[in-house]
Amino acid sequence: MSDGKKQKGFTLWFTGLSGSGKSTISERVALRLQRKGLQVEVLDGDIVRTHLSKGLGFTREDRDENIKRVGFVCQLLTRHGVISIASVISPYREARDHNRKLIGNFVEVYTRCPIEVCAKRDIKGLYQKAAAGEIKGFTGVDDPYEPPLNAEVVCHTDTESVEESVELVIKKLEELGFIS
Ligand code: ADX
Repeated sequence: MSDGKKQKGFTLWFTGLSGSGKSTISERVALRLQRKGLQVEVLDGDIVRTHLSKGLGFTREDRDENIKRVGFVCQLLTRHGVISIASVISPYREARDHNRKLIGNFVEVYTRCPIEVCAKRDIKGLYQKAAAGEIKGFTGVDDPYEPPLNAEVVCHTDTESVEESVELVIKKLEELGFIS
């Protein structure tokens, strides 16, 4: 850090439906933090699942295992002063809360967006496949999503601009004293 102080490690945990804006907002937040000279690592679901969680599927058991692995890495980074940004659907409250307890410095961001809007965006074409029955157990379609009850930040990505959502996250981090 430019002022010579050690940066404070914390985990920024993005949760929300596929296509709700987790990756877009988390990448923009990461950029903003990097521009401040902070060390940031992003763990994005799609990438994590090609390495750390390769071979895991989408049963509750496998999703929970995926979330535990991501949480474990976030904990290691956080305790060494790195800002970890996780961007994973993480549909089960219990698994997210497990990581909150494990990590301590944990800021949950819920990218809230009606499923109809996510399905309309359908960036990866997966909602169409789920509707056609080609993918079974798709989050929000025929698999559960448990929204956070006390997320530090809620981004309404159907009505806010990406910049507005990014700003909400940055403001909350300032308010919580994680960044200055
Ligand atoms: S999580 O449930 O374990 O947190 P994760 O965020 O890692 O999920 O991965 C979600 C991504 O996997 C989605 O964005 C989508 O691209 C892909 N995917 C493939 N099958 C499914 C499914 N059945 N449910 C949700 N996402 C799926």
